[in-house]
Amino acid sequence: MTVDADSIRYILALESSCDETAAAVIDRDLNPLSSVVASQYELHRDYGGVVPEIASRAHVRRVLPVIDEALKEAGLELSDIGAVAVATQPGLVGSLLVGLTAAKTLALVLDVPLIAVNHIEAHIYACRMAAKVDTFPCIGFVVSGGHTNIYDCTSPVDFELIGSTIDDAAGEAFDKVAQILDIGFPGGPAVEEIAKDGDRKAIRFPRTFLKEDRLEFSFSGLKTAVLYTANGVPGSHVKPEPLTPQRVADIAASFQAAVVDVLVGKCKQALQQRNRSILCVGGGVAANSLLRHKLEQMTRREGSQLFVAPMSLCTDNAAMAAIAWESLDRGHLADLDLDVTPGLVRHRKQKTKARS
Ligand code: KG4
Ligand code: ZN
Repeated sequence: MTVDADSIRYILALESSCDETAAAVIDRDLNPLSSVVASQYELHRDYGGVVPEIASRAHVRRVLPVIDEALKEAGLELSDIGAVAVATQPGLVGSLLVGLTAAKTLALVLDVPLIAVNHIEAHIYACRMAAKVDTFPCIGFVVSGGHTNIYDCTSPVDFELIGSTIDDAAGEAFDKVAQILDIGFPGGPAVEEIAKDGDRKAIRFPRTFLKEDRLEFSFSGLKTAVLYTANGVPGSHVKPEPLTPQRVADIAASFQAAVVDVLVGKCKQALQQRNRSILCVGGGVAANSLLRHKLEQMTRREGSQLFVAPMSLCTDNAAMAAIAWESLDRGHLADLDLDVTPGLVRHRKQKTKARS
């Protein structure tokens, strides 16, 4: 296909990597003209996690109405769309395939370019979109319910995964701790709220790998430490302190402080190790005020710049697929045999080639 990228005004983007069916229309200035997200929260709530089969079926039912809504909100017709972008990695295979099939069909029928988007890279690009200034090269940090990943981002098309969790994601730990303390779901906002009344120094929880050079995270030991502190150590006859509201607040505050220390510490190490002076942070946990505050303090001390994605672009959405403009302008187009990649890729560099 011969493509004149400069003549393209609007990209239609689809996102279905996990449990949100989303579509957005983005213009060349990275403005989302619409961003529609159909959450499946209520379908999975009773199972305590996302059920892949239920997620895929819900995507099938919702993808077309969501696309219609995104076009309507943008005040455009399908014929106005110059390219179709779709998240193809990482995520649940069945969920990703629904978005990909819809995107391929649209690209084929409209005879427009198809662009593959990496969902995690798009989370980092959300900072660039909101900032309206170039944020590359940078350290990119995605901290959500599914990911705790640090990237060295040389350019918007060259991302190297330099750190990740060896067990749970940070958001997952917040959710589990909220479950242990019985303070509601989703856990992050509940823990943050209750922690306001607690003493963050009340309990010294572990800060795994913090003093080590490795850019890795582990939250399962911390989760177990919270469980034992709240309910007692199995087999021990030492009774745990009663879970009074003050005790719950102290545990929440001490847990939050431990997670934040580790997240901020690893971002600092990444900036230093890669000699970068810009940090871009995205994902649901980036909503946490203590994390934002400590990141601001750390980057100020390091002489670095901090960009945190706004809330509307932190949680899963299709607008952050604006990163597809970077691919389009470099001629990085996909063919109709494009497939999904459910797992994480360590180093992804799109080779720049001449535009045809
Ligand atoms: O990015 P996201 O909306 O969804 C994915 O995981 O894809 O992130 C959701 C995660 C949940 O684990 C939630 O508990 C956490 O972000 N979260 C927070 C806060 N708000 C949401 N964690 C800590 N503090 C918050 N204020
Ligand atoms: Zn996400």
